[in-house]
Amino acid sequence: VSESGAASYGDAFADVYDRWYADVTDVEACARYVGDLAAAAGGAAVLELGAGTGRLALPLSSRGLAVTAVDASAAMLDALRAKPGAERLRIVQGDMSRLDDTELSSEATFAVVLIAYNTLFNLPDDDALRACLDGVAARLTPPGRLVVEAFVPIDDAGPSDDVTVSRVERDEVVLAATVHDPTAQVITGQHVQITEEGRRLRPWRVHYLRPDQLDHLAASCGLTLVDRWSDWDCTKFDDDSSVHISTYARLGGAGSEPTMPR
Ligand SMILES: C[S@@+](CC[C@H](N)C(=O)[O-])C[C@H]1O[C@@H](n2cnc3c(N)ncnc32)[C@H](O)[C@@H]1O
Repeated sequence: VSESGAASYGDAFADVYDRWYADVTDVEACARYVGDLAAAAGGAAVLELGAGTGRLALPLSSRGLAVTAVDASAAMLDALRAKPGAERLRIVQGDMSRLDDTELSSEATFAVVLIAYNTLFNLPDDDALRACLDGVAARLTPPGRLVVEAFVPIDDAGPSDDVTVSRVERDEVVLAATVHDPTAQVITGQHVQITEEGRRLRPWRVHYLRPDQLDHLAASCGLTLVDRWSDWDCTKFDDDSSVHISTYARLGGAGSEPTMPR
């Protein structure tokens, strides 16, 4: 059983995560990108924070990378452990904003740290984000890289509340109810799952940052932006991009220049 608020998202979604989110991003392109970064950094050790059910961690390990998967949710990690290939991973239950409190020693260092699919925004506030990035910086071997995948918030969006249809199947409807507080940069949501058996509430909350705010926070943790793309195939990032894949290096660390050809 998970013990902290950090586990609330994972515990709420673990039983449906693979069914609902298997195809949300291009897994193969992500694994290729991370594999190329690790090779460029001259290492094979990859740390995925908020690895969940292993949607990315398992394909990364299939490429020969030595993957450590950290997640706060026991339910998510149970789903991961049940999958073929999980035995190749090092699996650590813990809060990514308190890496020093996990069994992951600060001596363990990595060529790439991956925080994918908006997972960084699960952290409740800027202090937790900073603590997470400080922990990452301490565990990155120069010229290693932190890779963050996150959505780009819409500029000038006002306060709003909304209900959208997330899924319609023969035996299931999922509605997403959200409240957006642009001042706090927080979206509070509930996925309401309706089936013949009844309904179930799956709560979530994200505290998001704009890319420039993330860069600023990362720099305060000694991490400097080296590349930014709009997808895992290295498509140019521009004002219309709804997602960013941002790669950071330790400030002053060897090789803090771009790794991928533009
Ligand atoms: C959106 S899912 C992404 C899972 C996986 N990275 C993927 O792309 O499919 C976010 C994951 O982060 C985990 N998580 C949220 N807050 C966390 C925290 N503070 N520390 C560690 N894991 C956390 C959740 O349990 C969940 O498994």
